[in-house]
Formats: sequence, structure tokens, C-alpha cells
Amino acid sequence: MRAHTLLFGALLGLAIAGPPFIVRVSAQPQAAAHPGEYAPADIAYGARLYDAQCTTCHGANGDGVGGVDLRSGRFRNAVTDQDLTRVVTAGIQGTGMQAFKLDQSELAGIVAYLRNMNSFDRGSVKPGDADRGRAVFDGKGTCARCHRVGDQGSRAAPDLSDVGATRSAGSLLRSLTEPTSQMFPINRPVRVVTRDGKVINGRRLNEDTYTVQLIDDQERLVSFVKSDLREYTILTVSPMPSYKSTLTDAELADVVAYLLSLKGR
Ligand code: HEC
Ligand code: HEC
Repeated sequence: MRAHTLLFGALLGLAIAGPPFIVRVSAQPQAAAHPGEYAPADIAYGARLYDAQCTTCHGANGDGVGGVDLRSGRFRNAVTDQDLTRVVTAGIQGTGMQAFKLDQSELAGIVAYLRNMNSFDRGSVKPGDADRGRAVFDGKGTCARCHRVGDQGSRAAPDLSDVGATRSAGSLLRSLTEPTSQMFPINRPVRVVTRDGKVINGRRLNEDTYTVQLIDDQERLVSFVKSDLREYTILTVSPMPSYKSTLTDAELADVVAYLLSLKGR
């Protein structure tokens, strides 16, 4: 609800804001991997979910149900990924295949795993550990100096309390190594220069045709009438540092496991 209002406000503002403000907006960011490609992090997440929820009937090798071979890559009831999502979320009427309640991140994982079950090598992937990931989040990663989870951390950057329900494992991992590639339009940083020359950097909480509300890098709420501003620029590079070289692969996997465990309040 709130996210929609914010997004709508932002779109409206962007559409109407013209000169005398400087508004620079780049092309849409790449939100997900190319269709047909599945991020290893998604496949690994899907494998964990499969083991926990599907093996009782389908077995570890996907051939536990007569007439169904999940590893074959051919499905009687599904051709596209969308079909697979439908089979898993709606079930198959009149059979033992029940409907599963899974969020966006989980569905991305299950579909990626079903598509790669045949070649996925469990031995080659060390699954991340959410508890260790939390320790990295609070410690070495210093994520809480910008982000909030539950009632702890800063409001300078987006609240991550339910990020594990909406972002796929692959997208979360890329967020950590190449933040700009996964940035949503509403999260683009803005730079404001007031008429008397004061510069404020922050992110948008809300925006309409005439006004914009920001939270600045000191976590202060500030509101502006756009026509009072000398400059209003929407930037296209994420202010978040890349953790590509500061965290090890194992630490990154742990942080992703922790983020995936954040499924809302
Ligand atoms: C309680 C048993 C049971 C569980 C648990 C179960 N399934 Fe099934 N599943 C079935 C049965 C039985 C069928 C075959 C239905 C039919 O006759 O068409 C099936 C069919 C399917 C199909 C369609 C196969 C095809 O060839 O079209 C997919 C995909 C599938 N299951 C995925 C899953 C996934 C993913 C999970 C775990 C999230 C899961 N199932 C959990 C019993 C189960
Ligand atoms: C210097 C501040 C800063 C630090 C430190 C930081 N981030 Fe971020 N992060 C941001 C900002 C600002 C955004 C919003 C822009 C974007 O999406 O890139 C963001 C975005 C994200 C997103 C995407 C959120 C969404 O809803 O799209 C995730 C996930 C994330 N950060 C995780 C982390 C994790 C995990 C760490 C620690 C390992 C971390 N961040 C450290 C500032 C920071």
C-alpha cells in the first residue's frame, strides 16, 4: 500500500517535473537476470526449499511420483517458467500436488532449481548460514549504519525488514557486489541545492508535482517546495559500497541467507 503510494508519487513527480529543475534519469535498471538464465544463488536457495518441502513426495531425485520426472526438464503440466510457478502455487486439482504458499524470492528459487535439477551439484555449493550472515551484517559489513531491520539500524537507506520476501537470492547477491545494477528507481539518491546554496543528499520518501520529502544522510526528514530549489537532481549511481572485495564469497553467501530470512514483521 505505502510502497505503491510512494512509487506513484515518484512517477507523477518525475513525469511533471521539468525546467527550471535539473532532472536526470537513466534507463531502467536491470531488475533480474536475463530470461532463461538462472543465478546460482537462486538455484541453491531453491534446492534448500525443495529438500524441505518437496522430497516427501518427489524424492531427492525428482522421480518419487509415478509418471513424473522433475529432473528430466520436461513437465506434463508446464512448458514455461510461468506455468511452473502456477503448478506450484495452485497445485494440480484432484491429485496429491497441493498448492504451496511461497513468496517471490522462494518461487524464483524453486523455478530456478526445477530447471537445473539435473546439473546442480550439491557438493559444489556451500549454503550460506543466516546466523553468520547476521553477524556480518551487524559487524564487518556495517550494514546497520545505513539500513534498518525491524526496530534497529539507520533510516538513511531502505528498510530491509522484508527484503527476503520480494527480492530473489540472485538479485540480493548482485545488490551486494554491484549495487547500482539492482537499484529500484524510487531508491535513486537525490541531490538538492536550495536557493541559498545549501546542498542536501538523501533519498525520497514521497514526491508529488510540487513538493518532495527526503530523508537526508543524517536521517533527518526534510521537505521542499520544488520551485524554491536551485537544483533537484536524481542520481543514477547507488551510494551503497560494493562488497565484492571486502567480503569473502562465503561471507556474501551468509549475508544473502540472512537477507532471505527477512520476511517481514
Ligand atoms: C504431497 C505430495 C507432494 C508434494 C509435497 C509435492 N508434490 Fe509436486 N506433485 C505431486 C503429485 C502426485 C504430482 C502429479 C500430479 C498429476 O498426476 O498430474 C505432482 C506434480 C508436480 C509437478 C508437475 C510435474 C509435471 O510433469 O507436470 C511439479 C512441477 C511439481 N509437482 C513440483 C513440486 C514442488 C516444487 C514441490 C515442493 C514445493 C512439490 N511438487 C511438492 C505430489 C506432491
Ligand atoms: C553507506 C550506506 C550503505 C551501507 C553501508 C550499505 N548499504 Fe545497502 N543500500 C544503501 C542505499 C542508499 C541503498 C538504496 C540504493 C540502492 O538500491 O542501491 C541500498 C540498497 C540495498 C539493498 C536493496 C534494497 C531494495 O529494497 O532494493 C540491499 C539488499 C542492501 N542495500 C543490502 C545491504 C547490506 C547487506 C549491507 C551490508 C553488507 C549494505 N546494504 C550496506 C546504502 C548502504
